[in-house]
Amino acid sequence: MPSPLRIAIASSECAPFAKTGGLADVAAALAKALWARGHDVRLFVPYYQRIDDGGWPTQDGLAPFDLEFPGRSYRAETRTTPLPHSPGGGGNEGPLQVEFLNIPDLYARKELYTEDDDEPIRWAAFSRGVLEACQMSSWAPDIIHINDWHTGLLPLLMKTQYAWDELFQGTRTLLSIHNLGYQGVFPASSIQAMGLGDARGQFHQERLEDGIVNFLETGIIHASWLSTVSETYAREIQTKEFGMGLEGLLAQREDHLIGIVNGVDYSEWSPDVDPHIPSQFGPADMKGKRECRDRLLEEMNLAPNPSGPVIGIVSRMTGQKGFELLPDILPVFLKSADIRLIVLGSGDPASERYFQWLRDSLPERVGVYFGYKNELSHRIEAGSDMFLMPSRYEPCGLNQMYSLRYGTVPVVRATGGLADTVQRWDPERREGTGFVFYEFTPEALHDTLRHALDVWQDQEAWGQIQHAGMLQDFSWHAQVLRYEDLYAAMLAEF
Ligand code: ADP
Ligand code: GLC
Repeated sequence: MPSPLRIAIASSECAPFAKTGGLADVAAALAKALWARGHDVRLFVPYYQRIDDGGWPTQDGLAPFDLEFPGRSYRAETRTTPLPHSPGGGGNEGPLQVEFLNIPDLYARKELYTEDDDEPIRWAAFSRGVLEACQMSSWAPDIIHINDWHTGLLPLLMKTQYAWDELFQGTRTLLSIHNLGYQGVFPASSIQAMGLGDARGQFHQERLEDGIVNFLETGIIHASWLSTVSETYAREIQTKEFGMGLEGLLAQREDHLIGIVNGVDYSEWSPDVDPHIPSQFGPADMKGKRECRDRLLEEMNLAPNPSGPVIGIVSRMTGQKGFELLPDILPVFLKSADIRLIVLGSGDPASERYFQWLRDSLPERVGVYFGYKNELSHRIEAGSDMFLMPSRYEPCGLNQMYSLRYGTVPVVRATGGLADTVQRWDPERREGTGFVFYEFTPEALHDTLRHALDVWQDQEAWGQIQHAGMLQDFSWHAQVLRYEDLYAAMLAEF
């Protein structure tokens, strides 16, 4: 066990308080895992309206302080609450306290992310709030671990507005990229509004000439180290196909860029302990899965006892997720075989319209729920036989790992973390945990689904695939050690 480090984690999302996607799960689970290893962890998250609405009991944290921006000052304070299921370990007793940065003028809004004019200020203020909270408690972090574009300015702030403070002299910053598809791009004039006019020279100059400032790019330039959430995505983002315009910059920083696959928080996502599913089960006794399947079909008002598989989808509906491959394929399968499709998600109107149309065409076979519903996502994982993720790109993806644990065989495209976590079923050697296709084409998906449905006919083989998946271990126990090694390497670079 290495000596404990002081680690600040700054995240725009944190399960169960504020979640739109996998970042929330990962921020909470990594913080828990580090806390259980005995590190001195501080997890910072904005205090959104929904945390208040959710009735989470919070306590006063740091006394109010002011964050000054040109022409405007914001009153900030922190509020704390225990992170559920974070019992500690290695000298840490009791739950980890989440520290919410409460600035009602900026975060008490309906959504986590907005298109309001002050969006760049909201996130600049979050980074500053994290630094000031450290200052106020004279707590010198060894590592500040930031996530995605929202906290992308923090390393630059440390080098400029906060450079005077010796508290941060030994601090290293790690920027984890969870999704290059969101970069935080704003008019260059926001630099002035954020009070960073003097630091103009430290932003990407060509971008400024184009009249924009890019938060994620600024983080990539100034963070001590970069990580992303799978090894394959770490390679992919250095290519034109996946780099979203930042591939050159990422390739330049290749020697400070590492891929670490996300873990799964099995205290939340495992069918033997899951409180949201009607019957618990595990690899040694699968009876409960049958019950989960029956009840799920009932809940979604679908015809019972299909001879074919129940296919589940739980997803944000965006271009990233690859649903444009589905329109020609799904109706064919759904009409030709006695299968069911259950979809939970929301997002772009075209995808929602498509799934609604599919449901209206085949109301006994297709169930959809548009919106966000955590318990239902657990029941879909437990009650489905297959889980579909045809992603165009996928930095890591969590649902395929959840699926494996629930004996729900994933059908995925080999990209990013999907490539790193699902092993293609090899019928000759009778090995593998799922079905994998490579080309981003409807034909490739079609052939793979066809193959999966053929294998379904051989229930012994199917059981083998389920079993192999359920025995995979993607727990944070292993992944947290990789972060520890990385933090140690970062500090050794002094
Ligand atoms: P991403 O972060 O790109 O959305 P991930 O697979 O990493 O993809 O994580 C998605 C997380 O969000 C999973 O925990 C999934 O169960 C959850 N999720 C996505 N959409 C919904 C929804 N509509 N209702 C409930 N949970 C959802
Ligand atoms: C992002 C990615 C997803 C990843 C998640 C957590 O939202 O789209 O692939 O699993 O972050 O790292």
